[in-house]
Amino acid sequence: MMYRRLAVALLAGIMAAPAVALDAEQAQKATETRQSVLKVVGWNIGPLGAMARGLVPYDAELVARNAQRIAWMASMIPDAFRADTRAHAVTTEALPVIWENYARFEELAGNTQASAEKLAEIAAGGDEAAGKQAIGALIEDCRACHDDFRLKD
Ligand code: HEC
Repeated sequence: MMYRRLAVALLAGIMAAPAVALDAEQAQKATETRQSVLKVVGWNIGPLGAMARGLVPYDAELVARNAQRIAWMASMIPDAFRADTRAHAVTTEALPVIWENYARFEELAGNTQASAEKLAEIAAGGDEAAGKQAIGALIEDCRACHDDFRLKD
């Protein structure tokens, strides 16, 4: 019985849109996990945004490093949101429309990953103006998703 359930759970994990019902505890954990992914993204982009606005000196090495981290974290966004928590009273800024239009949500995560990878490449090349522009482009990708899929402040 146990093994059967484990097999079902593993299978669900690799399927595109598992219809596995979550219990309250699983929904809470899934919510905390996806928020953690985005907290790490936010933590890494903080100094980059400040550099793009000229508030702190541009540091190409730091930009390349953080952009690479953001690309990695962005690759986790679709997995992190796979668990549909709409039926649960979790504290979240995730809008229900995420699970109604998951393909678009995934696409926007993919765009963000691609922009972060591009930024890492540009930063490694050392061109400061191009680096700042690529930081701006990455932040636009964050906004594109937040506009439609995250609760407004
Ligand atoms: C594909 C959609 C998507 C993309 C792309 C995206 N976000 Fe988000 N982000 C969300 C959603 C949805 C939430 C709300 C999650 C929740 O509360 O459960 C969120 C929440 C956050 C949070 C708050 C995390 C917390 O709970 O403390 C931060 C910070 C954040 N995003 C930063 C960013 C940055 C920076 C980028 C771009 C590099 C980015 N996000 C790209 C969808 C996205």
